[in-house]
Amino acid sequence: MGIWNRIAAQFGRPEGILGGIAGRIMASRKSNIERIDWAVGILGPGPDSRVLETGFGPGVAIERMSGTVPRGFICGIDHSGVMVRQATKRNRTAVESGRVRLVLGPVSDMPDFDEPFDRVLDINSFQFWEDPVRDLCRIRRVMTKGGLIALVHQPRKPGATDEDAAAAGMEFSRMLEEAGFRDVGVHFRNMKPVSAVCVTGKN
Ligand SMILES: C[S@@+](CC[C@H](N)C(=O)[O-])C[C@H]1O[C@@H](n2cnc3c(N)ncnc32)[C@H](O)[C@@H]1O
Repeated sequence: MGIWNRIAAQFGRPEGILGGIAGRIMASRKSNIERIDWAVGILGPGPDSRVLETGFGPGVAIERMSGTVPRGFICGIDHSGVMVRQATKRNRTAVESGRVRLVLGPVSDMPDFDEPFDRVLDINSFQFWEDPVRDLCRIRRVMTKGGLIALVHQPRKPGATDEDAAAAGMEFSRMLEEAGFRDVGVHFRNMKPVSAVCVTGKN
C-alpha cells in the first residue's frame, strides 16, 4: 500500500504517526474548512447553546463554534486518542475553562450528561459508525425536545461524485427517520473536489 493510501486508511480512527499526519491534513485542507463553516452555519448554535460533536477529529469545528457559543458548552466525543490530543491542543483555553469537554471513546459508549444538548453535529464521521440507527437513538436521548442534529458528509473515496453525496443524503435521511427524528431536510453545497451534503433532523 502506498503512503497516501496508508494515511487515507487512518481517517476512520487515526492512530500513531500516520494518524497524526491525517489529523493535520484534516485541519488544514481548504475544502475541510469550507465544509466545517458551512455546516456550523446550518447548525446555527446560539450564544447559550449546548452542542455535542461526534467524531470531532482535530477539533476545528469545535474551535469555530466556541466563538459563537460564549455562554454555552461544547462537548465532543471521538474514539481516537491522537485526535483527542490534537483537538485539546487546538482548544486548550476553552478546555481549561470548562466550556469545552473532549471525551475519548466510541459514540456507541457515550457517557450520560447532566443536561441535554440542543445542537448535535457530525462531519464525515457518521459513515464509520458500526450501528448508526442504534447510536442515533442514543443521541436522541441526550438531546432537548426540538433540538437539531446535522449529519454532514463529503465523500472522500477516490473518484467520488456528486451522485455519491446525493446517495449519502438519502441514506442518512432514512436513518434519521428510523431513529425517530422529524422534519428531516437535505442541504447541498457545490464544492471542489465534490459536493457536500448536510442532513438535518429535529428531536
Ligand atoms: C474523517 S474524520 C473527520 C473529523 C472531523 N469531523 C472533520 O470534519 O475534520 C472522522 C473522525 O470520526 C472519528 N470516529 C469515527 N467513528 C467514530 C465512532 N464510532 N465514535 C467516535 N468517533 C468516531 C474518527 O476517530 C475521526 O476522528
